[in-house]
Amino acid sequence: MTGHTGAELNTLAGPDLDRLRALPARQQPDWPDRDALRAVLAQLPGEDLVTAASVGELRRELAQLDAGGGLVLQLGDCVEDIDTDVRAATCAKIAFLTHFRSHLRTRTGRHIVAVGRLAGQYAKPRSSDHEVVDGVTLPSYRGPIVNAPQPTPQARRPAPHRIALAHAAARTAYAAIADYHRATAHLDPIWTSHELLLLDYESRFLRPGGAGHHLATTHWPWIGARTRQPDGAHIALAAALGNPVSVKLGPDTPPEEAAALAATLNPDDQPGRLTFIARMGHQHVERLAPIVRAVHRRVEHAHWISDPMHGNTVRGAHGFKTRHVERIIAELTEFQRIVTAAGRRPAGLHLEATPEDVHECAEHGHEPRDPARYRTLLDPRLNPEQTARVLGHWFA
Ligand code: PEP
Ligand code: CO
Repeated sequence: MTGHTGAELNTLAGPDLDRLRALPARQQPDWPDRDALRAVLAQLPGEDLVTAASVGELRRELAQLDAGGGLVLQLGDCVEDIDTDVRAATCAKIAFLTHFRSHLRTRTGRHIVAVGRLAGQYAKPRSSDHEVVDGVTLPSYRGPIVNAPQPTPQARRPAPHRIALAHAAARTAYAAIADYHRATAHLDPIWTSHELLLLDYESRFLRPGGAGHHLATTHWPWIGARTRQPDGAHIALAAALGNPVSVKLGPDTPPEEAAALAATLNPDDQPGRLTFIARMGHQHVERLAPIVRAVHRRVEHAHWISDPMHGNTVRGAHGFKTRHVERIIAELTEFQRIVTAAGRRPAGLHLEATPEDVHECAEHGHEPRDPARYRTLLDPRLNPEQTARVLGHWFA
């Protein structure tokens, strides 16, 4: 799967995007039936999920973030479920996000830009293409837009019709968000984000525009730590967009590579265009300091936010993947110190969190053990009490 090229990006147009087709694209599914894939893509409803005007509004809000001392609060599931009542689940996630927006605003006195991992967080990168379950080697679960989580060969086979199901779920979620906005027109809007991963799908919703193509699946796409190769298709696609974009950076990021990404993604050095999401792990967070310095030798304008989740994933004693809240807090605390010491402003945080009363992250050494309270499709999420505890450690 790694090493697959972007050659199927057949709906792209324009010289930038011609170039993109030839670039290596990591983490693309090994679709067994490419004719079926093309047919599903061709039949998707063509309407935009987000308008260019709303994306422009978010971009202006992010451009003004530093002047107003505002913060980004980005949170939601590792991967969203689509085999559920998507409307009800979306309403619960909106209530959760807006609750913690008020909470953080009250604690810090700052303007909070509320962003969900919401309405399209359906595709997952994996460290390994396969996993072994009870002695059987299976393709890894790649999110509901690709395959199903059950550990059987049939469920794990990449199935193109899932793209249509996931897109329908996104439409339902956006309808719920639109209703929320209509009902609360006096409040600040909420914004959507997801990982810009599945190129065949995302490129179907790319609209040529003046100041960069409009990606109509989400307000604010991010590039994950596994697909941020400076010469890869994901970064080339992000560079071609007018949307604000972010990139996840892990502890293995060479500072000069981060600087090259900044130059590629924000060549005109525009405020609000580019955000880096640091996910270093609590033991490696000092590696961020030279990265921040290298980036700001190339550009003035990049925001820094902390994802203190993805560098702190461990296998718990009862077999569940978990994250210790104390280590999450340790990374978040150090992140703020390091960015501040590098002369920059910590601009917010990115969490995997759910309104459900789950026990997926460990606290005070209590690791998850009850399958009924461990419901994530992939990575362990903070429950509401844990989310409040982590946010209590934002001091910047
Ligand atoms: C994620 O955000 O769920 C993810 C896979 O993150 P990363 O790319 O930082 O590992
Ligand atoms: Co995750």
